[in-house]
Amino acid sequence: MLGMVNHALQEMVTDRLGEAAWESIRAEAGVDDAVFVIMKQYPDELTYALAGCVARRLGVPLPDALRAFGHHWMAYAERQPWGKVMHSMGGSVRQLLPALDALHARIALAFPGVRMPHFRTEPQSDGSLLVHYMSERAGLAPFVLGVLEGIGAMYGEMIEVRQVEDRASGAEHDVFRVSFLGAAG
Ligand code: HEM
Repeated sequence: MLGMVNHALQEMVTDRLGEAAWESIRAEAGVDDAVFVIMKQYPDELTYALAGCVARRLGVPLPDALRAFGHHWMAYAERQPWGKVMHSMGGSVRQLLPALDALHARIALAFPGVRMPHFRTEPQSDGSLLVHYMSERAGLAPFVLGVLEGIGAMYGEMIEVRQVEDRASGAEHDVFRVSFLGAAG
């Protein structure tokens, strides 16, 4: 994955646990890089190894750590120059979710060879939205759950996100239901 993903994970750890904790997690995961180059591609195994060590250090199951990382990823991404692109593509949860695929396609133009996930939304009669998530990578559904919740936080909207189809249990791909709890939903 791109260095920016690992960099965001590093930032979450240093914010919560401090520099020394990050250094020991990095050593435990066998990662030699003291700094991540934002635009460079790193092996996925490196990110997975770091995430596993972060979960152990936080004392939570891996899915919980990935979900927390999803929240942090949104806060991180919003601060990047790409955050402006994201805001230009949607001013609310309901606008941004259908634009997720186009957003990643646009970002991918800047990083040849990057393997972006794909998204598709499906409006439901009760006002909720189904978000379909398709990826070459396995095990990241809890991260998606966290990022989707993070989008609600970014716009200050009350939403509830539940995974309704799980690739790990045999579904073709992961599906999430985003329900709008606020009056404005
Ligand atoms: C400005 C905002 C965003 C930026 C800059 C961004 C950028 C990226 C980048 C660089 C990757 C790594 C791809 C790779 O290295 O191969 C990635 C992966 C991912 N992004 Fe985004 N993203 C943004 C917003 C979002 C949002 C709002 C979601 C909501 C669900 C999301 C979901 C994901 C997921 C699940 C992955 C994991 C990769 C995979 O499944 O294969 N991203 N994104």
